[in-house]
Amino acid sequence: MSIDAMQGLTSRLWFPGARWHVGDLAWGLRQHTGREHEWPTKVWRSNGQVVAWGWAELPGHLNLQAVDEHWAGAVLDWFGEITEPESVVVSSAEPHLVRAVEARGFVQMEGPFFLHLVRDLEDLPEPRAACHPVTDVAGRVRAHREAFYPSRVTEESYRNVQKTPPYRGELDVVADVDGETAAYCLAWLDDARKAVLIEPVGTVPDHRGKGLARDVCLAALHAARDLGAEIATVSPRGDDAWPIPARLYRSIGFAQVARTVHYGVARG
Ligand SMILES: CC(C)(COP(=O)(O)OP(=O)(O)OC[C@H]1O[C@@H](n2cnc3c(N)ncnc32)[C@H](O)[C@@H]1OP(=O)(O)O)[C@@H](O)C(=O)NCCC(=O)NCCS
Repeated sequence: MSIDAMQGLTSRLWFPGARWHVGDLAWGLRQHTGREHEWPTKVWRSNGQVVAWGWAELPGHLNLQAVDEHWAGAVLDWFGEITEPESVVVSSAEPHLVRAVEARGFVQMEGPFFLHLVRDLEDLPEPRAACHPVTDVAGRVRAHREAFYPSRVTEESYRNVQKTPPYRGELDVVADVDGETAAYCLAWLDDARKAVLIEPVGTVPDHRGKGLARDVCLAALHAARDLGAEIATVSPRGDDAWPIPARLYRSIGFAQVARTVHYGVARG
């Protein structure tokens, strides 16, 4: 899997509102083990430069990024060759991808979607709780599995995440209660864009509503700013079925710049 090549394009094309940040690829492709056969990826090059990538989530979902409509079309053609397409997701701020997807006959679908929220890193409030980088990997994984129950993240997959650039221990922040990991925020810094992505955040159910997610996010953002970040981004669900994460991020100063648009195949 050519995650480096995919991340290179993703960093080059990143802007506030982009669907993909290098950290999305690191987390998305490494959070689980043993799924490579379900997640075929392909990279397209032109004159030696990466111009597009596709990441199919079998059986029928496609993620993609491309420099223009032409190369997005090449990704969509590949997708149609390897599987029966069912769905594709793009950002509302990437009109060349919208055009390519619609030109292939996909139609917009209702249902769950994600917001693209951003915040500059001036005027960051201080966290109230003590936060620190992860030292107890088992506790960190347990907290994730409780926050996102049921979850396929394991200590093995988490160690893979920690080995995947641009992972940095300073940006993998936790808050403890009674010596146990109660909340965590993993942030990813794209040095070239000075842009930090929050992905993911969780608080174990017994410790929710105490400001801990807010605190770990703020601590991770302070650490990212210390490392050179100037802007932060996060992509929580935007539909009414899962509203709390977006409230959390808005409460610490994030505002919407775009959202995902989900396409499916017209039936009948
Ligand atoms: C989303 C989540 C991380 C929030 O954790 P938390 O520690 O309870 O959040 P906090 O106590 O720090 O709350 C911060 C803000 O979020 C919002 N918020 C949190 N829980 C809320 C709730 N149940 N209802 C409404 N707003 C809520 C509020 O704006 C709150 O600020 P306020 O207390 O000043 O009103 C937690 O619910 C969780 O782990 N959910 C499952 C995993 C997930 O969805 N993660 C986010 C996507 S990556």
